[in-house]
Amino acid sequence: MTELLTVKNVFITYGSFRALNDASFSVGQDEFVAIVGPNGAGKTTLVNAVTGLLTPASGEVRFRGRSIAGAGPVELSRRGMARTFQLVQVFPTLTVRETLSIAIASRRSSLSGVLRRVCADKAIRGECAFIAGLFGLTSRLETHAAALSQGDKKLLDIASAFSLKPELILLDEPTSGVSTSDKHTLMNVLLEAAQTAGIRSIVLVEHDMELVSRYSKRIIAMQEGQAIADMPTPAFFVDSSLVTAVAGRQPVIATGAAAHALNH
Ligand SMILES: Nc1ncnc2c1ncn2[C@@H]1O[C@H](COP(=O)(O)OP(=O)(O)OP(=O)(O)O)[C@@H](O)[C@H]1O
Ligand SMILES: [Mg+2]
Repeated sequence: MTELLTVKNVFITYGSFRALNDASFSVGQDEFVAIVGPNGAGKTTLVNAVTGLLTPASGEVRFRGRSIAGAGPVELSRRGMARTFQLVQVFPTLTVRETLSIAIASRRSSLSGVLRRVCADKAIRGECAFIAGLFGLTSRLETHAAALSQGDKKLLDIASAFSLKPELILLDEPTSGVSTSDKHTLMNVLLEAAQTAGIRSIVLVEHDMELVSRYSKRIIAMQEGQAIADMPTPAFFVDSSLVTAVAGRQPVIATGAAAHALNH
């Protein structure tokens, strides 16, 4: 399997606090990996380190064999890596079309003209319609982001990352703030969109163990800034002490999840 992402002995400190304490793992092409762990385990810090928003005190992050040191999010998206945010960061005064068009234009290095011209660009309009369609946002294209439901804001954030056409996408709690009944809908929309858009390598940070058991093939468990386990999803769910350490309790779904995972 071709290795896409390599995290090697990474330390991130806030003052004297080690948010990442010797974190190491790798993600290969075509993998769907879930990163799980209790609040404060360092999951978002890890995604920030991997996407160049934080610089490790020591250690190394490589994407397709090349160090990401010094490369910002724009450069990394050009190399094939994109992410979404735990706290959705939409531009409240832009419409869905404008938000997606900006992301597409930034990838195409054509964000020089006025926004209206970008939105009117035929190629961008076409891609915009395609991506909005993937995420069920077609009827919202002229809606201001601030007026979207929380679920649609999440979808817009994910759609923006998709419009960068990444090889690897990192999703930091895409279902947080979304009601339990809508979580599966969101995940299904997301996975179907990934398949249609040809995005085959996914890292999902997620608290919901049922979603993790259903969708991921491999689990990396974080605790106190370290990857304490890295194993196939079925093996994780049969290790009850590990599940308890990560979820804070034995989730009610654990047995069913393990059975489900073992059937895959
Ligand atoms: N800017 C910061 N300054 C100081 N400490 C921080 C900062 N950002 C995060 N931390 C601390 O680093 C630790 C890891 O935070 P992080 O956000 O990575 O956790 P997480 O695993 O994503 O948690 P959650 O599941 O709640 O999203 C936490 O103890 C957090 O309080
Ligand atoms: Mg987080």
